[in-house]
Amino acid sequence: MSKAVDDGSPARMLVAAFSMAALLAWSGVHAANGVEIAEGCDNCHGKNGHSTEEDVPSIGGFSEFGIMDLLESYRVGNREARKIRLADGREVDMNMIVQRLSEDDIEAVAVHYASQPWKPHPQEFDAALARRGAAVHDIKCDKCHSEGGSVKDDDLAIMSGQWRKYLEMEFDDFDTGTRKMADKMREKYDTLSAEDKQAIIELYVSAGKY
Ligand code: HEC
Ligand code: HEC
Repeated sequence: MSKAVDDGSPARMLVAAFSMAALLAWSGVHAANGVEIAEGCDNCHGKNGHSTEEDVPSIGGFSEFGIMDLLESYRVGNREARKIRLADGREVDMNMIVQRLSEDDIEAVAVHYASQPWKPHPQEFDAALARRGAAVHDIKCDKCHSEGGSVKDDDLAIMSGQWRKYLEMEFDDFDTGTRKMADKMREKYDTLSAEDKQAIIELYVSAGKY
């Protein structure tokens, strides 16, 4: 099973603009500088972590601890990242990127992105389906992902206003087990029907405007 980003996808065209050398420019021995490190990340995640590619998540505006935890889940392998091909033909992914960062680097870059505003992506959505998603979410998910996954201080990924395509890919990864989830989330997640999952994605895509 290939997890590579499709040849013609926008993300691939985007990252083709720079090389591994440019991407890993931060991995020197100097003191951690969040702004400098983030330049490499912004190549994929967009300026200030506001992604312009539908298969790359926005991260600007997540909390510091949220970002550190997400990076940790790549480091320990709870999450198998998707491969992205660079201009020089080499492949890179989040698992590799995280290995290159020291703990100080991770903290510095997390502080940088936590100081950016979260900007929901305006996207089309089905309001009735989003309302159905909200009803399920309130019961099964809101305890951890409060107010429809919109609250920074939950210290998790913000999902309200995230790209639809990215969210669909993560739900698929949870379904196939490529991405592991906390036992307490699994208990709830496994009770969702396929329609529930679609409805919850619709809720997130609506950014609470249903
Ligand atoms: C080559 C492109 C690329 C670069 C460079 C990159 N990322 Fe990512 N990042 C991705 C993709 C694609 C995903 C989501 C899919 C996956 O798991 O592979 C992701 C996921 C993430 C997530 C999880 C977001 C969520 O909602 O769960 C965080 C946090 C993150 N990246 C932070 C960073 C940081 C910090 C840097 C720089 C040190 C960085 N990324 C550099 C492509 C990139
Ligand atoms: C007990 C708390 C808890 C509950 C309940 C819970 N989650 Fe989560 N969820 C988490 C944690 C913790 C993570 C982060 C995992 C990681 O670091 O990769 C997460 C991550 C996610 C992500 C990935 C977001 C991203 O961009 O990285 C999605 C999607 C998600 N949860 C959906 C749901 C849905 C849908 C429900 C309800 C069925 C739910 N969760 C219930 C704790 C919970």
